[in-house]
Amino acid sequence: MNITEKNKVFILEIENTQYAFAAADDGTLCHLHWGKKAQAEDFAARFEAFEKGRNGLEELSKTEYVGNSGQIFRPQAIIMNYADRCRETLLKYQDYSITRSDAFQQLDIVLADEPYNVFVTLSYTIYKGYDIIKRSAKIENRSADTVIIQKAASAEINLPSKNPYYSVNPNGSWGAEFVLEKTLVNNGTLTYESNKGRSSHTNNPFFILYQNADEDIGDVYYGALVWTGNFKTEIFRDWAGNTKAVIGLSDFDFSHTLHAGESFETPAALIGFSSEGFGSMSNQMNAFSVEHILPKRFANEPLPVLYNSWEATFFDVSDEGQQKLAELAARIGCELFVMDDGWFGQRKDDHAGLGDWYVNKKKFPNGLKPLIDKVNSLGMKFGLWFEPEMVNPDSDLYRAHPDWIYHYDTRDRTQIRNQYILNITKPEVKEFAFEVMDKMLCEYNIEYIKWDMNRVFTEPGAENLENAQELWYRHTMAVYEIADRLKEKHPNLQLECCSSGGGRADLGALSHFDMVWTSDNTDPVDRLEIQHGFSMLYPIKCMRAWVTDTNRYARPYDWDFRFNVSMQGSLSIGGNLLNYSDKELDIHRRYIALYKQIRNTVQFGSFYRLASFGNDGIYATQYVRDSQSVLFLCKGVNTLYKDRYYHIKLKGLEENAKYSIEYSGEKLQLSGAYLMNVGLDLELGGTLDSEIIILTKNS
Ligand code: GLA
Repeated sequence: MNITEKNKVFILEIENTQYAFAAADDGTLCHLHWGKKAQAEDFAARFEAFEKGRNGLEELSKTEYVGNSGQIFRPQAIIMNYADRCRETLLKYQDYSITRSDAFQQLDIVLADEPYNVFVTLSYTIYKGYDIIKRSAKIENRSADTVIIQKAASAEINLPSKNPYYSVNPNGSWGAEFVLEKTLVNNGTLTYESNKGRSSHTNNPFFILYQNADEDIGDVYYGALVWTGNFKTEIFRDWAGNTKAVIGLSDFDFSHTLHAGESFETPAALIGFSSEGFGSMSNQMNAFSVEHILPKRFANEPLPVLYNSWEATFFDVSDEGQQKLAELAARIGCELFVMDDGWFGQRKDDHAGLGDWYVNKKKFPNGLKPLIDKVNSLGMKFGLWFEPEMVNPDSDLYRAHPDWIYHYDTRDRTQIRNQYILNITKPEVKEFAFEVMDKMLCEYNIEYIKWDMNRVFTEPGAENLENAQELWYRHTMAVYEIADRLKEKHPNLQLECCSSGGGRADLGALSHFDMVWTSDNTDPVDRLEIQHGFSMLYPIKCMRAWVTDTNRYARPYDWDFRFNVSMQGSLSIGGNLLNYSDKELDIHRRYIALYKQIRNTVQFGSFYRLASFGNDGIYATQYVRDSQSVLFLCKGVNTLYKDRYYHIKLKGLEENAKYSIEYSGEKLQLSGAYLMNVGLDLELGGTLDSEIIILTKNS
């Protein structure tokens, strides 16, 4: 890891990657390279020659962070409007600085739009052990006039090959988050975005661009925005074959006012390159997120096995009913008991109660203390559901403060799930949202909050703001601020981020919350596809995965299958334990005990996708950490006899080490080399069969 500068040529030497750019004589920041390494001095020689002959339109495209000036007609990184009505942004190189420490190095490049005294600092941070760069931009208005930012991306990215790249991103929905679609970017601009106020179930704020790649080979360029609100990723290929991407906040209904002396910082984007396919990309991002993105307090602790009461009781919660569930949850080995929706206000269903965060006296005549004491006495922590950004029209809060929601006086107020969104860009409303949770945390021994957000934005009026188009940005920042304040005041509080399932499953959420609820869809086969998409760039340990009741599904899953799917993430239980036989409870107990033996490997180990339904008819993942390796195999719905036999080559083992493996009643000792290079022939039974195989490295 090292950052160098010579004659305004900047080179970021990362682990196996190099990123280079230079400031041209006219002040343009020109991109030179991102990929495998070359000799540093060659860039300077090449750039000098390029500068001399520079007049072609093609060369104009390789910019590091371009405004909408001159002949730049493609998607730009930044657009500002100035007080004299100039709507062009022309940034020129000014200066640089480098900060160095053992763990990271940061290069700050200062650009300026000189006539307007506006400065933009581009930050590039590289980290020991990772082929990842964190990028962001900070805009400072040092003039006496007001400047309006119309667009400010986190990063502009140039890809080296003139041949088209494939792009993957979810084209998802509620219940189908992270369902990846592949698109060839050969012409025009491909846009992934959310304008819904949350990163959403549809597209996700990341890009993956690749050529001739699979899990093990091929060039993959990727990036993820550390942001939970509206975003936009534009990927385009021009007439000359240059592929570029611009990723950052959405410019939909967005602007940001900078008064004299004010500044604005974009969210960060993490960008990375792998010449070894998707597997290496996922492992880099998995480990990086745990080390550098997740809130520190619990980042390195395995997540507890939780029980969540939602699917068991829905809104019909009661002191007695929850206590009964808690007893069974403890009996099967859960470590955390989370009471979901329904405990507050006049909440009978989703028509009333949001905003009235007092304990419902009918359901809990003596408050929550008896339940929490019971949960604690059973050796479990207690967690509670909130939806702090929301209000039902049928609530005391709304009756008292109808002006606390986003609205326009001339428009109907659209209800979605019978609720409105509180305008937490108002200081008093933000304080209210903090206080309702803080009060409960002070009064009760609550160690976990599931923070939900169940609707998209409509009528985004915010009369309190001088520039109401700032609300998208300010709302998300307010969510982060409240989460951070809660964690600061209650250091042992764990936060789960939920938004009708995975509507806020992104790295922005994971920089303030400890985990996400991945999807409301807990059908195990569907879930494997959702988990597959999530695992591309996001940390496995943060992926809550519930085992739920089989009668909800069209397919006849056995318990083994359900557990073998959910144990591939952060195992959680969500079924109605009261309906289970002793035998079924015992199955739960055994699997939870097994999960506790493997969870450090699953949550912190290297991770491999060995086979997927689409290609192989079987879904297989493997996790490796220290001397343990865990292999999961799940067979889909195909029944052909010939499809019963699978050949699986393992990954990430030590060639010369011997591994003990037990499979089909046979105990074997095999070398890493055999397991990885020759592989195992495995037989699975009919439809929806599954296996977990644990390998132990001999000491
Ligand atoms: C959302 C969540 C669910 C549950 C319900 C409660 O749909 O995704 O897990 O918490 O809200 O109303």
